[in-house]
Amino acid sequence: MVFTDKHQIINITRTGLCGYHAWAMRIQILSSHLINQIAAGEVIERPASVVKELLENSLDAGADAIEVDIELGGLRRIRVRDNGCGIPQVELPLALSRHATSKIATLDDLERIASLGFRGEALPSIASVSRLRLSSTAAGATSGWSVQAEESEPVPAAHPVGTTVDVADLFYNTPARRKFMRTEATEFKHIEQLVRRLALSCFPVALTLQHNQRTVFQLPPALSRGDQERRVARLCGQAFMDQALHVEHAAAGMVLRGWVALPAFSRSQPDLQFFYVNHRMVRDKLVTHAVRQAYADVLYQGRHPAFVLFLEMDPAAVDVNAHPTKFEVRFRDSRLVHDFLSRTLQEALAQIRPAAGQSASRPSPVPAIQTWSERTPAQTGMALDVRDQIAAYATLHPREAPATIPPTEARDAGDYPLGFALAQLHGVYILAQNARGLVLVDMHAAHERITYEGLKSSYAAQGIRSQPLLVPIGLRVSRREAEACESQQEGFTALGFGIDRSGPEQLLVRHVPVLLHDTDIDALVRDVLSDLLEHGASQRLQEAMNEILSTMACHGSVRAHRRLSVEEMNALLRDLENTERGGQCNHGRPTWVQIDLAGLDKLFLRGR
Ligand SMILES: Nc1ncnc2c1ncn2[C@@H]1O[C@H](COP(=O)(O)OP(=O)(O)OP(=O)(O)O)[C@@H](O)[C@H]1O
Ligand SMILES: [Mg+2]
Repeated sequence: MVFTDKHQIINITRTGLCGYHAWAMRIQILSSHLINQIAAGEVIERPASVVKELLENSLDAGADAIEVDIELGGLRRIRVRDNGCGIPQVELPLALSRHATSKIATLDDLERIASLGFRGEALPSIASVSRLRLSSTAAGATSGWSVQAEESEPVPAAHPVGTTVDVADLFYNTPARRKFMRTEATEFKHIEQLVRRLALSCFPVALTLQHNQRTVFQLPPALSRGDQERRVARLCGQAFMDQALHVEHAAAGMVLRGWVALPAFSRSQPDLQFFYVNHRMVRDKLVTHAVRQAYADVLYQGRHPAFVLFLEMDPAAVDVNAHPTKFEVRFRDSRLVHDFLSRTLQEALAQIRPAAGQSASRPSPVPAIQTWSERTPAQTGMALDVRDQIAAYATLHPREAPATIPPTEARDAGDYPLGFALAQLHGVYILAQNARGLVLVDMHAAHERITYEGLKSSYAAQGIRSQPLLVPIGLRVSRREAEACESQQEGFTALGFGIDRSGPEQLLVRHVPVLLHDTDIDALVRDVLSDLLEHGASQRLQEAMNEILSTMACHGSVRAHRRLSVEEMNALLRDLENTERGGQCNHGRPTWVQIDLAGLDKLFLRGR
């Protein structure tokens, strides 16, 4: 059927064929109230969204004390009070008008936003779906004023310098939205989670959260690092803080600060991941990818890392105007940010060795026995195949070990974080004594990590050997992928791949790394290309290599139930002290635990 004019279509829709008749109405300009309600639909999803917008306004106003009072999960009332700069009387009605903001004025400002707000949208949106009262006294003014959405003029109000926004009966006039609200407890859980996340981003600000007149938390300002760590412990749990490494690194115009949990503190959910860009909390795929990459080698399968991290960078290098709720950002140079994050964290995690964080021990003790992983390429004899090297290493130091271990009386346990072996338990664990007490080492897990790290560095020193394929593999790819491959030729070659572009949408794989020649090359190259397109960088080849090395290390490592001499055990302890990421095996299990004397005393109720 051919439709020739609108009326025919309308007739058809009225017969129910198409099911709607929107175009039967005249085009008209919507009322500003309805425009605000439409905007509210995007920005104000639930009570927690209101709390987010109000708290962000208070932070933008430079407040150093903020109180959040909630009633009935925010559905009856949300009140945020601050001691910020306040709003002058003449500007109060403007604050409730759409597209009115004090935070930006030009496109140039929009491209380098340093404040959390910038759209001039939050207050009018909230006001259109609730009964909102805004009261404020501007710094320097002698009296306060208050305004409501439907009132045109502010009325005098007693108020200290700062601002109070009181939001009652949220969604009272949008029943459809109200129907989506969950129970009071659920809505409050969202609010609490949100306030916790924001509280991590503003250490200098005192913050109180109350629900139904009960104080949920009251956080004092946290200026020193100790205070900040106490706040993090309060918000994320003491267990996180006990297992966290402090990170602080600056490069390429960026600074990354914060805390990352040791791999052993991984989570089954990604629920302890807090990331802030210039104090704005964000969820970002690139960030998640970079962090995962940093943990790739040390995390148990399917587990999630935990972190609280703050990235600071030039506001012009990040676009915050990318999402209605401002939870997402776009980095102008995403590859640089990705590399900076993953490298910084990788290095931080690589520092986890037995000496880390233990006052009783000195870092990096002189090794009693030179380990295989530390020898220079010339010493290791590069003619040896990697597999031979594993086999050789698996025999576990049949060297002149006894002579190089100091006699008992000359040993200063403080020099050796993991101490000295006492015995082997059930052929599985090494028992050792150090300055703090007892150390238990999982023999297989420890050896696996040592072998793996050694293998990786030897492999890096040897370079990646490449071998030609008997029959080159042809790959059909998109034009973009073919271009990405062409522009990354050098990278591919360095990793042992030889790939040519044989047509606009065609690649030909001619050489592959020796170690990878049994893997699914087609899938690997495709994964690498899609990484390159999405993140501008790919770690997949390295990951695939590492996986193979890891499997080899596992097979090449000393099995449980093998009897070890005391010298062999001591050699293993020294190697572990000098191994990067020595605290976990390749699968993320801990390699050793410390039980200090106080802990042992407790077991025996000593000193009570
Ligand atoms: N707590 C406050 N203290 C001082 N001024 C405030 C406060 N809350 C709002 N304002 C003023 O009201 C204006 C409008 O606030 P609103 O939240 O609607 O927009 P915005 O913060 O500028 O942008 P966005 O919509 O992105 O949040 C702000 O630009 C600011 O000048
Ligand atoms: Mg705002």
